[in-house]
Amino acid sequence: MYEELIFPKGFVFGAATAALQVEGDRAGRGDCIWDDYCSKPGNILDGTNVDVACDHVHRYKEDVAIMKKMGLDAYRFSISWPRIFPDDSGVPNQAGVEFYNNLIDELLKNGIEPYITLFHWELPTYIQRVGGWSNPTIADKFGDFARFVGQTYGDRVKKYITFNEPQSFLGYGYRRGSHPPSLKMTDKEYLYAIHNFFRAHGMAVRALRATVENAEIGITMSTNANYPASNSPEDIEAAKMSNLDIVNDDGFIMNIVHWCDPIYFGKYPDKAYEVFGDDMPYMSEEDSKLISEPLDFHGQNCYCSSMIKSDGKGGYEVAKRPLGSAKNSLNWPVTPEAIGSVCKILYERYGKPIYITENGICCNDWICEDGEVHDSYRVDFYHKYLKNLNEAIKDGADVRGYFAWSLMDNFEWTKGYTARFGIVYVDYDTQERIPKDSAKFYSEIIRLNKSNR
Ligand code: NOJ
Repeated sequence: MYEELIFPKGFVFGAATAALQVEGDRAGRGDCIWDDYCSKPGNILDGTNVDVACDHVHRYKEDVAIMKKMGLDAYRFSISWPRIFPDDSGVPNQAGVEFYNNLIDELLKNGIEPYITLFHWELPTYIQRVGGWSNPTIADKFGDFARFVGQTYGDRVKKYITFNEPQSFLGYGYRRGSHPPSLKMTDKEYLYAIHNFFRAHGMAVRALRATVENAEIGITMSTNANYPASNSPEDIEAAKMSNLDIVNDDGFIMNIVHWCDPIYFGKYPDKAYEVFGDDMPYMSEEDSKLISEPLDFHGQNCYCSSMIKSDGKGGYEVAKRPLGSAKNSLNWPVTPEAIGSVCKILYERYGKPIYITENGICCNDWICEDGEVHDSYRVDFYHKYLKNLNEAIKDGADVRGYFAWSLMDNFEWTKGYTARFGIVYVDYDTQERIPKDSAKFYSEIIRLNKSNR
């Protein structure tokens, strides 16, 4: 049974969370831009904040026990910059430092490998106050933070992801204004903020290389994962073309090459100069070297994407999905084809081993009469996406691991606690954790993979 879900030997099965979404215990950390944002009425759908969230800071042992029971190989979590450095004095907060020490030790004790994300959208307010990503000094500041993380945890943690989804925190936060700090920049200002982010990434890579022996470092993107409408060579080519194109969607950029070419090739793609002209930032030789410091793997988050077909004239167009096609509770289309397709395209262009650092679905879950959470649609979602991913591996894409998003229900940014993405249900009144049917399914797949090795 489930032969299609038996992955190559050594494939890593994990689950992911992010600090702000699960930790709580705000007293122990400095403010970040999301605290300010949550405090303004109307910003968060259910009017909530992250003061308690899933109380992971106090319940991490219980959470690690759940991971262990599921048989997870790895846990991807992020380190909260303002929990480590609550203010701009540069003096670390010992309680925060200890929390991650304890979490890491607990994971290792239970045979679960920690994967640290350095930045999952939690920009300290004191950094935003001096311009955030618009101020080039952020690159050094982020490098200092990365160095501290490497020095402190690098003896035990070898896997690092510098940034999570720059497309989102810069696109929504600095261009569309729908996430904090609610800025609506011009193209030129926005592209410059992106350039500062690229430099900060490079500084972090250098800091981690200098402090962590045998570090494996990557970055997580959420670029387009457009997939072909059919198996015809024309549609396959059209999907590839759309992913590698550059489209200025009211300033919003999701194309792979704009975000990945600088990281892997040290330059912006030619098309970016065609589309943005003089608004493009200057890439000096020094910046080019910094930004393209060699990485060990590419992290990709994958949720949904568009179906693309050939327009019959050598170009591409979006193909309509059949009426009533599957969607999650946020109305995002369910598109399992996207996960394999994007891995093939990324591997072909950049040749880096890939980890799917997030994949998952939010559903309107509830506790059933028998006390369990029967999330059959999520089970099917994981089945379909994992199957598609495995097919891409068989077709030659070098994918080394997969992280379910999320380990548990949590604070879904502007949606507050209304969108449940977890494979473990969280009752926010009692903080009780209930593994959903999807957690049991995932666990069974992990067990089958282990017994087949
Ligand atoms: C990607 C983000 O990294 C994560 O924080 C978020 O919760 C999921 N997408 C679902 O929207």
